Amino acid sequence: MQPAIEVGELRKWYGDIHAVDGVSFSVQPGEFFGILGPNGAGKTTTLEMVEGLREPDSGTVRLFGESPWPRNPKLLPRIGVQLQASAFFERLTAREQLRLFASLYGVPTKQADEWLALVGLEDMAGVRNEKLSGGQQQRLSIACALAHNPDLVFLDEPTSGLDPQARRNLWELLRGINEQGRTVVLTTHYLDEAESLCDRVAIMDHGRILQEGPPAALVRGLDSPTRISVESGLLPLAEAATLAGDVEVDDDGVSLTFATRTPAPVLAALAERDALRGLSVRGATLEDVFLSLTGREYRA
Ligand SMILES: Nc1ncnc2c1ncn2[C@@H]1O[C@H](COP(=O)(O)OP(=O)(O)O)[C@@H](O)[C@H]1O
Ligand SMILES: [Mg+2]
Repeated sequence: MQPAIEVGELRKWYGDIHAVDGVSFSVQPGEFFGILGPNGAGKTTTLEMVEGLREPDSGTVRLFGESPWPRNPKLLPRIGVQLQASAFFERLTAREQLRLFASLYGVPTKQADEWLALVGLEDMAGVRNEKLSGGQQQRLSIACALAHNPDLVFLDEPTSGLDPQARRNLWELLRGINEQGRTVVLTTHYLDEAESLCDRVAIMDHGRILQEGPPAALVRGLDSPTRISVESGLLPLAEAATLAGDVEVDDDGVSLTFATRTPAPVLAALAERDALRGLSVRGATLEDVFLSLTGREYRA
């Protein structure tokens, strides 16, 4: 199958700053692909070159086998780029805004209006842009990007600045867009977002991709211990330390925690002793992956 996206050795300098420093990846049709990294990692610059909005200093980009730069009219109907909410026209209502974008692609008004419902903004159709909440503005900008029904959708930090509930709601919308068979490429500085949404994620820092793969595979690749916690004091430390298999034990006065690479026998032994009150089981996360790749704590 022809990849939806193929990127080879992309580079971009801003003066002395090597914003993108040899980035390569490919994305298959239907995938949900994420570029994850802290602020300044080079995510937006990479995305803009892939979208054909910025000229690379070197390297290649192919979308469905075609180069997006210089502006390629063959590709425009097939790709959707989410605009920043700040790019909205002033004083237009949500419906007018969306119809205006749709008309640029020759999309019928009716089809444009359907997108308002699909992103959950039906009730806001007559409300002006600037009166919409942050989450509603993001939904509107996603509707504008999708109004012409593209196969491939680019979203640059779509949930940035939203409250946790609005972020979760937007995740549902993005999942739905991908489940319709569209290829989705998203940048984010939220580890949990990448972990929850993406089939595959590229971890980016200082203009380079450090590692790439399905989030669960990256985490598993770390081979870090599982942490099993129960209420503090449920077992004496000496007994806990010899409970089962290979464990490291710690009791901080709140939780008794076992770090182990063989969680099953530890859980079984705790169950046998009826010592499961307050149980929580935590594996490694992408945060641990970032730490192991860079030696730094992840700070977005
Ligand atoms: N137009 C620009 N002019 C100069 N430097 C820029 C410009 N855009 C981005 N940069 C710099 O390039 C680096 C990567 O930025 P960016 O791609 O925006 O990262 P991210 O989206 O991951 O936050 C940063 O050091 C940023 O300051
Ligand atoms: Mg950015």
